[in-house]
Amino acid sequence: MKIKVLGSSAGGGFPQWNCNCPRCDGVRRGTIKASRRTQSSIAVTSNGDDWLLVNASPDVLAQIAANPELQPARQIRDTGIAAVLTIDAQIDHVTGLLMLRERSTPLPLYTTDAVWQDLCTGFPIGPILSHYCGIEHRRIALDGTPLALDALPGVQIDALPLTSKAPPYSPHRQSPERGDNLGLVLTNRATGKRAFYAPGLGEIDGALLDVMRSVDLLLVDGTMWTHDEMIRLGLSKHTAMDMGHLPQCSTGGEDGMLDILDSIVRAGVRKVLVHINNTNPILVEDGPERRALDARGIEVAYDGMTFEL
Ligand code: MLT
Ligand code: MN
Ligand code: ZN
Repeated sequence: MKIKVLGSSAGGGFPQWNCNCPRCDGVRRGTIKASRRTQSSIAVTSNGDDWLLVNASPDVLAQIAANPELQPARQIRDTGIAAVLTIDAQIDHVTGLLMLRERSTPLPLYTTDAVWQDLCTGFPIGPILSHYCGIEHRRIALDGTPLALDALPGVQIDALPLTSKAPPYSPHRQSPERGDNLGLVLTNRATGKRAFYAPGLGEIDGALLDVMRSVDLLLVDGTMWTHDEMIRLGLSKHTAMDMGHLPQCSTGGEDGMLDILDSIVRAGVRKVLVHINNTNPILVEDGPERRALDARGIEVAYDGMTFEL
């Protein structure tokens, strides 16, 4: 099983088009050591030809262009993207569906009921795409039955409902529903190796921590370094937690993502932060925050980062 990070940034990308925060300004001017990043998505394959796109980023076309494996060119119109799964209905994870409208067959799309509801109401991509290629919706049930996709032979996907946030336009933004946000456990049945992917992770309870302790690769929410990062920069009134993201540093005695990751000691485990917001100082490769991560054995995802499990 191969997992490729297509986009390692949170919504907005890095640099964000209208942002002059120290990170965006620095990478734009070349005055800091940092790389540009596109918005949140990974792609998974087990046979090397067929890919599951997990999250359809607004940057999907640039991501396909940057990853020629996704265009096998077997016929006049073709794609390696056999199906899409979105872990929530946030703009950075679903807007790219509109960019895939030129398909000649309906797009197979895996979501929970809660996410599909948002995509038919608050952000009606489903009805819109019915005028183009159409969507063949495949329901993620959340009854504990693992998903087996034709596109990913030998791979098992377990979808875990998470505490994070439905998008602002969701009818259930203020009344969370089970399935608004998912984490995925991807298991290669042949090797037994497992990855956990959760770019939006607001709370980690004991059961989830047990799952996180059992995997070989953690690709988890790296949105913000501190809970008030955007407030301090004058960019938002909301904390990381208001947006459904657990910050890396602890807040008022509550564990942050670093404390959680420190408590995971499985031999050989890789701990990787994804969905990095452009304000996050960990983007600076020679900065003190990155040194703190290095010392703890925590990596920062970049576009094109690839894992074989
Ligand atoms: C989030 O996860 O909070 C998003 O990145 C927000 C967005 O895409 O605007
Ligand atoms: Mn996001
Ligand atoms: Zn910025």
